[in-house]
Amino acid sequence: MRAIVYNSYGGSEFLKLTDMEKPIPQKGQVLIEVKAIGLNPRDCNIRNGDLKIISGKAFPKLTGSDLSGIIVDCGAGVTNFKAGDEVFGYIEDVKSGGSAEYVVLPVQYLALKPKEISFDTAATLGCTYLTALQTLRDKCKVMPGSKVAIYGASGGVGVAAIQLAKYFGAVVTAVSNSSNENFCLSQGANSFVAYDKTDIFSSSDKYDVFFQVFSKQGSFYDKAKGILKHMGIYTCLIPDPRFLFKSLFARPYFKYILVKAKRADLDLLAKLAVERKITPYISNKFKLEQMKEAHDMINGGHMKGKIVITL
Ligand SMILES: NC(=O)c1ccc[n+]([C@@H]2O[C@H](COP(=O)([O-])OP(=O)(O)OC[C@H]3O[C@@H](n4cnc5c(N)ncnc54)[C@H](OP(=O)(O)O)[C@@H]3O)[C@@H](O)[C@H]2O)c1
Repeated sequence: MRAIVYNSYGGSEFLKLTDMEKPIPQKGQVLIEVKAIGLNPRDCNIRNGDLKIISGKAFPKLTGSDLSGIIVDCGAGVTNFKAGDEVFGYIEDVKSGGSAEYVVLPVQYLALKPKEISFDTAATLGCTYLTALQTLRDKCKVMPGSKVAIYGASGGVGVAAIQLAKYFGAVVTAVSNSSNENFCLSQGANSFVAYDKTDIFSSSDKYDVFFQVFSKQGSFYDKAKGILKHMGIYTCLIPDPRFLFKSLFARPYFKYILVKAKRADLDLLAKLAVERKITPYISNKFKLEQMKEAHDMINGGHMKGKIVITL
């Protein structure tokens, strides 16, 4: 079978198309014929070796943390899936990836894909939508009327966050580059602030939730607390253990998240996609052999919605 692998940590030039043996599912695993792969910034981070303490030294490695496909074989003990099931999911394990024609995965990363949504769409519902859901619903308890600012609103997590915050009844302010104003409003945002023209942190508005999706410049908590209500919630995606103290005592609240692959959440996202309560935006599609270009696009840091690799 064809696969994209890398044999040492480094840049996207290390990604190579190769031939590999089709894997055999072990206990609790299924073999999936992959139809689409969703990429996330973490795939570039893992490939760079940023997480090598946990991703380890075993090579070759696959890449791509979201996928959709069809189960072709089940290992021992698998009772909740069978051959022929269409599935999608988020590969939480940083040692693993979806970049092959067939992959084996433990069942806890997967959910059934409804027939009504395409494989491409299903491959975008993992990491980013789980992150937005677990942040807004579980960490921030967003409810009808909540005033939510989303900083970094035009990329993968940002678009998912706009759509899910609207689903929860929030009033959403999207913050992104001025070129993305119409795009963010078309995803459901009520208002827009261009970070390259206006300093949202000097606004007199007070938010219930400030969701910092853009993570490359560290936490903006100290700036964001001035535009949060006293019992408001600042939340970010930077799982830094140094934030533990702040997360216990700070007011406005300080929260951060490390997304988890949860079957119930994947099932909910699939249902919302079928009901068109959420509609993933796919800006670009690539073929398996174009994985390097796809990684370079993600690594640029200015994604519009999601990109997928179709097989
Ligand atoms: N902790 C977790 O569990 C978890 C889960 C998922 C993601 N993450 C992390 O969250 C981050 C975002 O993920 P993503 O999938 O949404 O990434 P993405 O698709 O690449 O989106 C990046 C966003 O950042 C914005 N941005 C870029 N430069 C900016 C700047 N100077 N100021 C303000 N915004 C800027 C972009 O908007 P413009 O194009 O308009 O600049 C875009 O909206 C990544 O670092 C990812 O690793 C963490």
